[in-house]
Amino acid sequence: MTDQTAKFTLGDKSVESPVLKGTVGPDVIDIRKLYGQTGAFTFDPGFTSTASCESQITYIDGDEGVLLHRGYPIGELAEHSSFMEVAHLLLNGELPNGDELAKFENTITRHTMVHEQLTKFYSGFRRDAHPMAIMCGVVGALSAFYHDSTDISDPQQRMIASHRLIAKMPTIAAMAYKYSVGQPFVYPDNNLSYTGNFLRMTFGVPAEEYEVIPAVERAMDRIFILHADHEQNASTSTVRLAGSSGANPFACMAAGIACLWGPAHGGANEAALNMLREIGRPERIPEFIARAKDKNDPFRLMGFGHRVYKNYDPRATVMQKTVREVFEALKVNDPVFDVALQLEEMALNDDYFREKKLFPNVDFYSGVILSAIGFPTTMFTVLFALARTVGWVAQWNEMISDPAQKIGRPRQLYTGAPQRSYVPMDQR
Ligand code: SDX
Repeated sequence: MTDQTAKFTLGDKSVESPVLKGTVGPDVIDIRKLYGQTGAFTFDPGFTSTASCESQITYIDGDEGVLLHRGYPIGELAEHSSFMEVAHLLLNGELPNGDELAKFENTITRHTMVHEQLTKFYSGFRRDAHPMAIMCGVVGALSAFYHDSTDISDPQQRMIASHRLIAKMPTIAAMAYKYSVGQPFVYPDNNLSYTGNFLRMTFGVPAEEYEVIPAVERAMDRIFILHADHEQNASTSTVRLAGSSGANPFACMAAGIACLWGPAHGGANEAALNMLREIGRPERIPEFIARAKDKNDPFRLMGFGHRVYKNYDPRATVMQKTVREVFEALKVNDPVFDVALQLEEMALNDDYFREKKLFPNVDFYSGVILSAIGFPTTMFTVLFALARTVGWVAQWNEMISDPAQKIGRPRQLYTGAPQRSYVPMDQR
């Protein structure tokens, strides 16, 4: 709270609303009483100027290109941390010491298997079903399996559900991939790391030993860190809104997966690589930049632009560096990386992108790496959902345990028909 207030005058009404100050970032005007005081709502479709909650998990400074998780810069976490360590940080608020990390990893490891009945859900899908459609269905179905931990008012049960979700997402994601390529599901091997386990369940086959390549494991783990959480983005806001009614946590995460799937959000990584492949060679870049600038053409540069970042997305910086590491480790020479680098350079030197402050975001380079590792483009957003489950779960826990929490119920500006009487059929 500050001693500042914001004054509103509406007709003959004049009200003052308190201004609240966070640790860092923009102050907020607390308008919770505004409707009661003025009879008017605020209007903010897309929430471009609205803080929906108070949170202590992630902070983004879009102008400076800063991303902090519990105060730690994303670049330092990507460089020095592991996804499991970041998961502990996001969930519990502090970096774990050695014993705490070992205990957390052991807990997660012991929840990696799914109920055998859950495997039956996959056979209901066509083999060519989009893996994100499968993820929506199967993660939602998890809500039918854990009636022992659905009293979300009990912190212990919330934490069990959280651990189950974080642990089972790699297994479910790998199974979605296996189903789509007609290979048998591979059970978790809990002697491996979280990320190594995922790579083996995805690319391993019963017919032979699977060897985790350390450089790929490290790159994949870093990609998970870069996607773990991102403040009140669309899918996290979806999870919070679904959870605000007290809904089953597994069902809430399925809602988040559905939202993330959209090409304007997490689906952009799949769309970005498809775009880079369509461009094909540097000579065609000007044609696509012209289309992105053409108001009459709905085409946008996928992987470019951001609601919050009006500077370079710090995750894209790490992602570009990781492309080089993976290409070197796997001896990959995919021309799509050169197309991406030259597209970025041309766009960042173009007045249109500079004036609108459109920079590469987390999705611009991720697909180049994932494709090099061997994932089909349809799996890219599944990997985003796998990693973002940690953020969704952390934000969901924060919301449920907030004493000020209440069900989310926005209002509207109604511009429809005024009240009118029913017209009998013979008079229409
Ligand atoms: C993610 O919120 C998060 O934190 C998301 C995320 C996370 O970690 O959760 O960071 C993950 O979703 C990253 C974003 C991935 N999406 C894409 O890369 C899709 C392409 N980008 C966009 O469609 C767009 O930039 C958004 C959706 C990301 C942001 O859109 P906004 O903030 O609503 O901005 P806007 O659509 O109003 O665009 C502002 C202007 C418009 O031009 P004008 O109407 O002002 O003339 O910029 C233009 C847009 O036409 N513009 C683009 C563009 N993005 C915006 N023009 C060309 N190419 C683009 N990519």
